[in-house]
Amino acid sequence: TTLLILWAVIGYLLGSIPFGMVLARVMGLGNLREIGSGNIGATNVLRTGNKTAAALTLLLDGGKGAVAVLLARAMAGEDAAQLAALSAFIGHCYPVWIGFRGGKGVATFLGIFLALAWPVGLACCATWLVTALVTRVSSKAAIMAAALSTGWMVVLGYGTGMLLAFVLSLLVFWRHRDNIARIKAGTEPRIGQKG
Ligand code: G3P
Repeated sequence: TTLLILWAVIGYLLGSIPFGMVLARVMGLGNLREIGSGNIGATNVLRTGNKTAAALTLLLDGGKGAVAVLLARAMAGEDAAQLAALSAFIGHCYPVWIGFRGGKGVATFLGIFLALAWPVGLACCATWLVTALVTRVSSKAAIMAAALSTGWMVVLGYGTGMLLAFVLSLLVFWRHRDNIARIKAGTEPRIGQKG
């Protein structure tokens, strides 16, 4: 158990690095809180107009989830990997460093699943991409990818990841409640729009 607690802490610390916020600041793009949705994720970084910063945010926010899983798995096995995954996701959404006002977990969720069960990760990325291409709305793509993730776990033969996918998808929905309200009101901006 001590070991598992350790992986929960390492996962949280990795997940809690707010790459979007750091990059926006370092690259002189301004304060993300005052831009678009105010979120720290790649979608909102893109609203600064800087595609490189947005792509880096996506890669790093996804990468920290993947690293948490791969490290825990290599050093402590599958249970530790799942716990590190959940902790990294929570770290991203509720980082202690910026008043627990973190992101919505989409990039991190994708990185986690690519590392945990890569076919499921690819299926989730494809779900995100297809929905994004069709709707042009990032939050719709996120909600769709989360909604189908548990199903992908089952269909692709990763029953052990089912509960984790279910819990993470509920958290993704919860983190998108403002977006869901905007979608209902018809005011959710398309990808790249300032909003
Ligand atoms: O990844 C978060 C995305 O689904 C929504 O971001 O900035 O439009 O709230 P945003």
